[in-house]
Amino acid sequence: MPAPPRWKVAIVVGASSGIGEAVARRLAASGTRVALVARRGDLLRALAASLPAGAATVREHDGRDGGAVPAVWESVEAELGRPDLLVYATGIMPAVGPREYSFAKDRDIVEVNLLGAMAWCDEAALRMESAGSGTIVGVSSVAGARGRVGFPAYCTSKAAMDTFLESLRNRLARKGVDVVTIRPGYVATPMTEGLGLPARATISADRCAELILRHAARGSVDVHVPRLWGLVALVLRMIPSFVFRRLTI
Ligand SMILES: NC(=O)c1ccc[n+]([C@@H]2O[C@H](COP(=O)([O-])OP(=O)(O)OC[C@H]3O[C@@H](n4cnc5c(N)ncnc54)[C@H](OP(=O)(O)O)[C@@H]3O)[C@@H](O)[C@H]2O)c1
Repeated sequence: MPAPPRWKVAIVVGASSGIGEAVARRLAASGTRVALVARRGDLLRALAASLPAGAATVREHDGRDGGAVPAVWESVEAELGRPDLLVYATGIMPAVGPREYSFAKDRDIVEVNLLGAMAWCDEAALRMESAGSGTIVGVSSVAGARGRVGFPAYCTSKAAMDTFLESLRNRLARKGVDVVTIRPGYVATPMTEGLGLPARATISADRCAELILRHAARGSVDVHVPRLWGLVALVLRMIPSFVFRRLTI
């Protein structure tokens, strides 16, 4: 007889492509019922149709609409049962030109990457704390380690997300709820297409999903995936500011 799934019901925000899609596929394959959340309903429905019958449900949702989160959560719970896992894998990383300083673009990045994460994680925390169990996973990035020239708002959103998740983890430590921060390095997904990432340092979305779920099953952790990126982040943090500002990374 196959082992029972680690989680009964999961909500995966950002399930229409890349890492979120891969996480949803792995969860469904292990017997977890999954709510697939993102804006592109056509992709979510196609994904749901490719999963075992009854394994998934679809919710079209814009991560910038934090006020809608309680109602979406409620409707998932009514259909699938109490979610005991939230994975926030939503994110955007638009290109920022060397002479571009766009508040509109920066706001969009922060709304999707950070405020959306806060809205979903707060809702999860509230409900999981009451239930006395559950796992909250935030997909952050190694990019949160330093403020880099290429992606100012993206780096900011990830650094802030790390701090927010750490606070949640500390608040929920004795309440039976695990809060997991995942900081991937390079992952081959639509987000990184055309960026020319070095193939040897890049993992597939499925491998990333495997590592995310493995770490999440262990409880509250803050990890780089693969682990070697922790060393990269350490080195990045040690570069003095006067040196760092001369670099183009
Ligand atoms: N790929 C990497 O190398 C890498 C490295 C470190 C961290 N990450 C992080 O991993 C996460 C997933 O990225 P990915 O590489 O898998 O990118 P991706 O393939 O582009 O997927 C991004 C997901 O976010 C969703 N999304 C974007 N804007 C949204 C919005 N306004 N509302 C709701 N959903 C929205 C997309 O769905 P819709 O467009 O359908 O809404 C999609 O499902 C991101 O947080 C990213 O920062 C990625």
